[in-house]
Amino acid sequence: MTAVQDTPHTGAGGPGAGKVAVVSGGSKGLGRLLVERLLADGWKVATFSRSANEFVKDTLAEQPERFLWEPVDLVDRKALRSFVGGAARAFGGIDLLINNAAVLNKQELFLTASPRQVDLLLASNLAAPIALAQACARVMSNRGGGQIVNISSINAVRGYRGVAVYSATKAGLDGFSRSLARELGPLNIRVNSLVPGFFDSEMTTEVTEQNRERIARRTPLGRLADVEEIADAVLFLVSPQSSFITGQTIIVDGGITC
Ligand SMILES: NC(=O)c1ccc[n+]([C@@H]2O[C@H](COP(=O)([O-])OP(=O)(O)OC[C@H]3O[C@@H](n4cnc5c(N)ncnc54)[C@H](OP(=O)(O)O)[C@@H]3O)[C@@H](O)[C@H]2O)c1
Repeated sequence: MTAVQDTPHTGAGGPGAGKVAVVSGGSKGLGRLLVERLLADGWKVATFSRSANEFVKDTLAEQPERFLWEPVDLVDRKALRSFVGGAARAFGGIDLLINNAAVLNKQELFLTASPRQVDLLLASNLAAPIALAQACARVMSNRGGGQIVNISSINAVRGYRGVAVYSATKAGLDGFSRSLARELGPLNIRVNSLVPGFFDSEMTTEVTEQNRERIARRTPLGRLADVEEIADAVLFLVSPQSSFITGQTIIVDGGITC
């Protein structure tokens, strides 16, 4: 059997063969799908989340040479740096960081939000991706280049009640992507923000059916995103087909923000 025939099953010979990705929050939702698709494309993938689920356990058992998972919380800056160091040592470098993990916890009005909740969102959704980007970019710069994709949100672009601080973290991430792209471009590291519209995941289980219908009505394409459509856009940003795109905020939302 040729390497090409092997590709759909093992990833061997795929476009990511020999490359290493770090994906935060790869156990569920969009992160899990990205891990699955990167592995299928031949990448080695290091990911973390707070807890291991069946997907993590099965993938560790099935692909121990190409998949690495550790329990890490976004708020633990030291553990994030140590995770990146361990991934680089285990796989021989890092070519891609996808800053995917984020917390929303609960939607709440700003006037009654506790300082603890504000700090948690800032630490998890903004300080953590910045720390991961710095640790990974240092490894990438020693390897001649790489890519960073920051997963933002349409809350960074349009206002919604109950998510002011979450929105601030995502808007911060978009600004971070632009300036970092200027700084890291000369090192051959591309940095982009990917802005998804609403898609079904654990994060959106609290969205009521009424709100779901309202979102669909306000979306020119008349529906929520399929998570595969968001992953397609991320993988485009990761592919050689986007080799001249950096410092951009790419919105994939069925037109709800237009
Ligand atoms: N869903 C949407 O409609 C939507 C829309 C726009 C943007 N986004 C963005 O898309 C990204 C992915 O969202 P999703 O809906 O796929 O999320 P999700 O289903 O809730 O999955 C989040 C992933 O991150 C991990 N994670 C969460 N908190 C963590 C923490 N404190 N430390 C370490 N890992 C943590 C989770 O595992 P553990 O729980 O085990 O830690 C899980 O693997 C996020 O950046 C989100 O803001 C989502």
